[in-house]
Amino acid sequence: MRVDLITIFPEYFAPLKLSLFGKAQESGLVEVEIHDLRKFTQDKHKTVDDAPYGGGPGMVMSPVVWGEAIDSVLKNAPGKPLLVVPTPSGRVFNQEMAIKLASFDHLVFINGRYEGIDSRVVEHYQQSGEFSEVLEISIGDYVLAGGEVASLVILEATSRLINGVLGNEDSVSDDSFAPGSMQNLLEGPIFTRPASWRGLEVPEVLSSGDHAKIAQWQKDEAIKRTSKFRPDLKA
Ligand code: ADE
Repeated sequence: MRVDLITIFPEYFAPLKLSLFGKAQESGLVEVEIHDLRKFTQDKHKTVDDAPYGGGPGMVMSPVVWGEAIDSVLKNAPGKPLLVVPTPSGRVFNQEMAIKLASFDHLVFINGRYEGIDSRVVEHYQQSGEFSEVLEISIGDYVLAGGEVASLVILEATSRLINGVLGNEDSVSDDSFAPGSMQNLLEGPIFTRPASWRGLEVPEVLSSGDHAKIAQWQKDEAIKRTSKFRPDLKA
């Protein structure tokens, strides 16, 4: 998979060099390029924003600068990428969307700051046909200072689903929210050695060797946890 990220803070993406995503780049499974939006400005102050039409607080990012930056990424794109626009006004991200994103060969993330990007940018690229799709995605009902952290979240959830990125394929199918696992249930508690730690014992059933009994216990615990923290998930 190829990933292009456009931002005024390229340093925000330093964590992509670490851990699974870093290894995926080293092994060639993922290829990442980070583009500094200010390189596409036309004035000596490298301005990327302007006052909002209609008034109101804050500044809006210029469609002119974003258009130049996105066109430059498109010029080097072999096919039709997916355009991801992190925004609190988007569709709320979930595992199903991560699975969809992981099926694309090329993702382009545009990271807004301030009050956001002029809305004509999304409209233009929805109409131009240069992207296979334009997805406006929120990572939850709270407002961040910009799209960068949201892009990192979306990328981490997506990249671990690419074949070969995780060492153990089982860990993906066991995830909470993974289709076909325990659908719509949060994962229950997990334990490792020692069997006794600070007066807390690992539940006996897990050492019984009775796989059916263990699976039933894990399901019961998952249901309890789901009722407590996410009653909305129960059908
Ligand atoms: N930018 C600011 N807040 C955001 C959110 N909740 N999700 C995605 N992008 C954002």
